[in-house]
Amino acid sequence: MSSNDFEPRQLDTHKPSSARIYHHMITGEVIFESDLPFIHRLYADIPFYPLWAQHNRRFLGRAVRYMAGKGIRQFLDIGSGLPTGGNTHEVARELVPDARVVYVDNDEEAINRARDLLQSEQVLDTTAMVDADLRDPARILEHPDTQRLIDFSEPVGLLVVSVLPWVTDADEPAALIKQLRDAVAPGSHIAMTHVSLEDAGQKIKEQVAAGAAVFTDASTPVTLRNRNQFATFFEGWTMAEPGITYATDWHPDQPVDTDDYARSCNFAAVGSLP
Ligand SMILES: C[S@@+](CC[C@H](N)C(=O)[O-])C[C@H]1O[C@@H](n2cnc3c(N)ncnc32)[C@H](O)[C@@H]1O
Repeated sequence: MSSNDFEPRQLDTHKPSSARIYHHMITGEVIFESDLPFIHRLYADIPFYPLWAQHNRRFLGRAVRYMAGKGIRQFLDIGSGLPTGGNTHEVARELVPDARVVYVDNDEEAINRARDLLQSEQVLDTTAMVDADLRDPARILEHPDTQRLIDFSEPVGLLVVSVLPWVTDADEPAALIKQLRDAVAPGSHIAMTHVSLEDAGQKIKEQVAAGAAVFTDASTPVTLRNRNQFATFFEGWTMAEPGITYATDWHPDQPVDTDDYARSCNFAAVGSLP
């Protein structure tokens, strides 16, 4: 059975997931009423988060356009989230009309909604939503839909945008990215972002310290990493200009607001495989 065939699922509405909360920050949509107390606490304790999420999402679009401009025609978007505006297949097709996209997520709402969307758009011949986990690259790479849509002898655009914060050090994130790197052809690209407080102002540090308990109530803990730790995920990749920067500053398509206090909390970079 293809992963695009509908399978009813039991959603856990009690623990807010990173996917549902991020989706709210981007769209304002409340997926489950039971998420609301958590969302309200988040706004109160960590008010920079919605702006941070919007910056992150815009980076994703710019990275996809950049890769499409480099001739990438197939994308593996891992931790793709709930579909919203600017989904990878939509952005890629502005430049590459026949782009193929495999979405991967481990969140049930993200999976169900993406499958519904791709089905309703009748694009299942060129896109798929795979139910898999970044911590199991082999399952992603060997999945029948990945094998059906991605030609591993051609360059792939890997998107791992704001997913690594939900992978703990014990899961060895650099080794996971290396497994993906080893599977793709020269000319492939990877885009990643990572929340960080390394350069954050005192105000944000205090907010996050005060609001840290918010995250222990979510279904998955968040790991903050600094610039050097983020850099280790790009080992073996040639960094595209300007290297590691803030997501807002990576090939910006609008003036960068240097007074924006969410700006410094999200490292971003794109690498290519020689
Ligand atoms: C902050 S959202 C980012 C969504 C999208 N990549 C973007 O940048 O707009 C993080 C997403 O990663 C997913 N995620 C977290 N840990 C994951 C894992 N180990 N494997 C696959 N997906 C994961 C979450 O379910 C969520 O949809």
